[in-house]
Amino acid sequence: MSKSLASFVLLAVLASPALAQTPTVSLLIDHGFPSSGTLNIKSTLADVATRKGQAFHFGSTYDTYDPDAAWTSSIFTTFFNHIVAENGCKWDATEPSRGTSSLTGCIGVQTFATSHSDTFRGHNLFWHSQTPSWLPGGISASDLVDNVIPQHVMQEVTGLGADVTSWDVVNEIVGDGVSNGMSALQCVQNKNSWPTKTSDGSSQNLVTDLSFVYAAFSNAFKYAGSSTRLAINDYNTGGNDAKTACVLAVLKDVQAETGIPWDRLAVGFQSHITAAPGQFTSKSALATTFANLATLGATAMITELDVKLSSATSANERYQAAIWGDYLDACLFASNCNEFINWDPRDDESWLGTSSAGTLFDSSGNPKPAAYEVAARLAYYAAGNPELCATAAGTGSCTINITGGSGGSGGSTTTAASVPASTPTGGSPPPAGCSTAKYGQCGGIGFSGCTTCASGSTCQVGNAYYSQCL
Ligand code: G3I
Repeated sequence: MSKSLASFVLLAVLASPALAQTPTVSLLIDHGFPSSGTLNIKSTLADVATRKGQAFHFGSTYDTYDPDAAWTSSIFTTFFNHIVAENGCKWDATEPSRGTSSLTGCIGVQTFATSHSDTFRGHNLFWHSQTPSWLPGGISASDLVDNVIPQHVMQEVTGLGADVTSWDVVNEIVGDGVSNGMSALQCVQNKNSWPTKTSDGSSQNLVTDLSFVYAAFSNAFKYAGSSTRLAINDYNTGGNDAKTACVLAVLKDVQAETGIPWDRLAVGFQSHITAAPGQFTSKSALATTFANLATLGATAMITELDVKLSSATSANERYQAAIWGDYLDACLFASNCNEFINWDPRDDESWLGTSSAGTLFDSSGNPKPAAYEVAARLAYYAAGNPELCATAAGTGSCTINITGGSGGSGGSTTTAASVPASTPTGGSPPPAGCSTAKYGQCGGIGFSGCTTCASGSTCQVGNAYYSQCL
């Protein structure tokens, strides 16, 4: 083989995401946080809410047909505090024939949530997939927009009531071949599916404007509870890409047309990603997108996160944990992100298939490194610590060093001398104007003492559970 051909082959191999070397990553669970044993993070989630200033909905999917009922009940008691129906609230399940409301499965999921002191979100009110047998049928554009969609949305939203944190009002309506600068209508027409096209094989134009989107949102707004967020939900979004720009363009168009207040509108970033360089959105790009939504007054939510692995090696599971931690940190540290859904709780229940190992718990229901890392990130945030660097970028860019504070942008760490001490979890708040002498404790998970150090010393994080005035 000639040298030039050999170098070409080598480059091709290295460029292949599947074959690219898995980056070495730095994780919080390397620094004193639990990385084995059972996890109970319900109280940590409450502490996260204290720092956030509002509830933090950290959840997964459930349907009333559940192969692992005992495990599922336990995990939604000890680990998740939020639930979405994987399939039970979709159109095929909730309106099997036109005008017939069949909400048993969907309400069953909401009831399960309530019985486990968890919150509930609705997925979804409009999707071109998983439609009942009578749809799309020969229904005209005007009948769909003026009657079918309003009827469906009304009966499902009123049926589930006001105790719904958010609804995916429209799901996956933006095309995958969009380009920057497209109008909202062009973005949706690019999907090239029902209802902008017929689905009888003729692919004729059907709904030639965004009226079906307006109908879904305006009726959801009409019938939903006053605090329920109304989302456009899609996949392969989150970064500085054309599809994300399209989703925002559609949302702006919906807001202008319907007049729904921005603080009721949201974007769901599904986040079905792969643990390989370039196969997920970087933490900084997510943060920028979330901030752009915050500027509008809208909400960002991670709605369907799973992280597919090429194989369940230790290095890949650590990489998965780093990616999961970055996505979670992007939401935790955003002012407008308070729902974070992990799609399917365990590998053997995943739509990806068990071998993709794409969830937080393995096929026996045991926590994986990603589950421990997520628990650590939540605890670290709840303790009042600053944001970590992007661990999914690998140790060449980000190394966590709790002793010296969280990792900086370079391989070296940043000494976080001014790391805020822990958020008091439980107990009475420290007295105002207090002062901790040098070498005294000033923070850490569970610490509720004085977090202000005497002059001449600063509060430095020794580990997650102990900060000291030095
Ligand atoms: O309920 C029937 C059962 O009676 C039948 O015996 C069985 C075999 O045909 O099928 C069962 O229905 C399946 C359903 O899941 C419930 O298990 C459908 O075939 C199957 O297609 C459906 O897959 C779901 C998929 O959406 C449908 O598109 C997955 O569970 C679900 O995880 C997945 O979720 C979607 C989100 O809603 C939107 N974003 C993408 C995400 C992944 O595709």
